[in-house]
Amino acid sequence: MHSFKITVKAREDLIGIARFTEARWGRDQRMSYLKKMGFNEMAPLLEKRFRRNVNAQKITGLKGATMNRWIKVDEPINRYITEHLEPESPVLQTLHTETSSMEGAQMQISHEQACFMTVLLKSLNARRTIEVGVYTGYSTLITALALPSDGIVIACDISEEWTAVAKRYWQQAAVANRIDLRLAPAQKTMEALLADGEAGTFDFVFIDADKTGYDAYYELALQLLRPGGMVALDNALWNGSVVDDAVQDADTVAIRALNDKIAKDTRVSSYLAPVGDGIYLCCKL
Ligand SMILES: C[S@@+](CC[C@H](N)C(=O)[O-])C[C@H]1O[C@@H](n2cnc3c(N)ncnc32)[C@H](O)[C@@H]1O
Repeated sequence: MHSFKITVKAREDLIGIARFTEARWGRDQRMSYLKKMGFNEMAPLLEKRFRRNVNAQKITGLKGATMNRWIKVDEPINRYITEHLEPESPVLQTLHTETSSMEGAQMQISHEQACFMTVLLKSLNARRTIEVGVYTGYSTLITALALPSDGIVIACDISEEWTAVAKRYWQQAAVANRIDLRLAPAQKTMEALLADGEAGTFDFVFIDADKTGYDAYYELALQLLRPGGMVALDNALWNGSVVDDAVQDADTVAIRALNDKIAKDTRVSSYLAPVGDGIYLCCKL
């Protein structure tokens, strides 16, 4: 065990620098840079981390891989994961099939992501949730199914046409009574909840609507959640464009900026999970 007199902020900075440099520089270059930065007292810890990374790179063949970070999810591994998912219920399967021929079909979350969210909702003992972006209702439906019978999802969308499909399936699955659909811009709906005194009363918020609105939804979600509640932001990896500097459209720029903000946000404990198109999980502290 090493014990260092180092502030939490300095330690976070150091880990950030270590992550940034480990994939790019050799050992000597890294160590001399870190010493120059005044972090030499952490050297033994870094040596350990560095050695482990070299082993990980040898095993996986991936530059920058660390034992606890990467496994290459190729087709066989993906199939293996899929084989270990809980089966999709007939209602959800039919909803997927009907949506697949509709405009915007790619917007629907996958069965894998639904399983992931169900585990989150159940472990949070979620009873009150908000859904920002309903489309044909798949994620809202898996949420409602994960709640107790007196649970409620405030479902926000602006499309009457798409949510008409959703409503049929919520009825079929016998959970329509747990879903309160609000057809209005989500920001207005969330502000109205706050105005009605509902701050701090929600367990879970799922954000999956217009990307340039994400920051506003995130801020409102933090007000509406109870401490220990979670906001999950879908498409946080945006099909990989977050790491492609050539992509500078408004949606990508908005997602990148919010991801960077969340990484430094001391109001939450967060993790960007590489599930689906990336889900940024943020637990309100
Ligand atoms: C990606 S889809 C949601 C997919 C859904 N979560 C699912 O699992 O099928 C995005 C939805 O956000 C809705 N939307 C776009 N802008 C919005 C806004 N300002 N307020 C509320 N909903 C909005 C769209 O109408 C669309 O249905």
